[in-house]
Amino acid sequence: MGQRSQWGTRAGFILAAVGSAVGLGNIWRFPYVAYENGGGAFFIPYLFALLTAGIPILIMEFTIGQKYRGSAPLSFFRMEGKKAEWLGWWGVFVAFVISTYYSVIIAWAMKYTVYSFNLQWGDDTQGFLFGDVLNLADTPGQVGGFVPGVLIPHILVWIIVFGILFAGVKKGIELANKIFIPVLVIVFLMIVIRAVTLPGALTGLEAFFKPDLSQLANGTVWVAAYGHIFFSLSIAFAIMITYSSYLPRKSDITNNAFITGFANSGFELLAGIGVFAALGFMAVQSNVAVDEVATAGVGLAFAVFPQIINEFPGMNALFGVLFFLSLVLAGLSSLISICETYVAGLSEKLGISRNKAVLFGAGAASLISLLFTTRGGLYFLDAVDYFINQFGVAFIGLVEVIAIAWVFRKLDVFKEHANPMSDIQIRGWWKFSLMYITPLVLGYMMFDLFRTNLG
Ligand code: PHE
Ligand code: NA
Repeated sequence: MGQRSQWGTRAGFILAAVGSAVGLGNIWRFPYVAYENGGGAFFIPYLFALLTAGIPILIMEFTIGQKYRGSAPLSFFRMEGKKAEWLGWWGVFVAFVISTYYSVIIAWAMKYTVYSFNLQWGDDTQGFLFGDVLNLADTPGQVGGFVPGVLIPHILVWIIVFGILFAGVKKGIELANKIFIPVLVIVFLMIVIRAVTLPGALTGLEAFFKPDLSQLANGTVWVAAYGHIFFSLSIAFAIMITYSSYLPRKSDITNNAFITGFANSGFELLAGIGVFAALGFMAVQSNVAVDEVATAGVGLAFAVFPQIINEFPGMNALFGVLFFLSLVLAGLSSLISICETYVAGLSEKLGISRNKAVLFGAGAASLISLLFTTRGGLYFLDAVDYFINQFGVAFIGLVEVIAIAWVFRKLDVFKEHANPMSDIQIRGWWKFSLMYITPLVLGYMMFDLFRTNLG
């Protein structure tokens, strides 16, 4: 299979890792999760989760990829043999599932980007989703046919993904992120500057930052913080192991992990400010409390934002185009990382070329994802997303950390591997976080989930 692919530069790797981390979760998930879980007070559990789980696990996964130099299944195999390999496959499987619906959301955002050029959204918000624009079914169980206007951007999304993956790690993934991420930062800064200068922006920001300290005693707030950090940093999905397996033999893993973690959080904070400034504007325009317009996910991006754009004082076409373009760019750079995870896994397991793995892996994912482009797609999407988020993420994270810290007892080995190459020396806090804090919090999270879902 020839020489293993490698990143061209350190910045290339960091941009790719940041590209994976910064995704739809930063823009449409974080602002609402923070708002719902104590507002300004949420930053305490959030920082705690970042420093005791997010960055420690990122350091651990970067080390695994860099040390064993393989896709996730191969890296786990080299670590502890057959009995560990399935951990990698589990992550690969979840990544595969996520890619099938993540791609469809990007297609919606693309459609909205184009739609924003000639504006004229109606006044009825539900209409965007269920009416002319996306044509989704508004009752569950109604599968219906394909939505032609979604099918075209959907095919375009996959053509872009195929193109980037075929071009390889350095000439494809690295180059794409070197373009996408700087553009994304500029576009997003423009959105935020415009949003905070809107009338009513302060009302939104007040609602977002107002600390509700009583929430700190609430276990679900802490669970929300840990859950969000896992999703937001793309950890426990085998993704970061795959990306770090393309690092050169000498790389400052620990420093790279801190940069990736803080860059992702910085972007999240920026998104929170932009989204809530815009929601404040909306609330003041329609004379309601911020709470009435605050929401997350598909509803925020594809129903509330069009409404905000509609009521914009001038230049609204530009604002709309920039907003949806930011979703497309953030989404694509994450989608590429998700697909690379199974491309690498398949090609190494089956001993086939990278291009064949792209053809089979991404080919299968793109076909399955057609299901979500039907009129009933949103319902499938909601169901799968809920399942993945609730059970997939935390559960894999828990098993992975326990296996490595307690069963294989690899933490000291990893520390010895990472420290000599880094400006930042990992010591007690790293090991303590992975051995005790992360398993305890994730264990509680699983317990909480089963209690609320089954009890
Ligand atoms: N981290 C990405 C986000 O914040 C989402 C993602 C999850 C990407 C899992 C890849 C894998 O949106
Ligand atoms: Na993120």
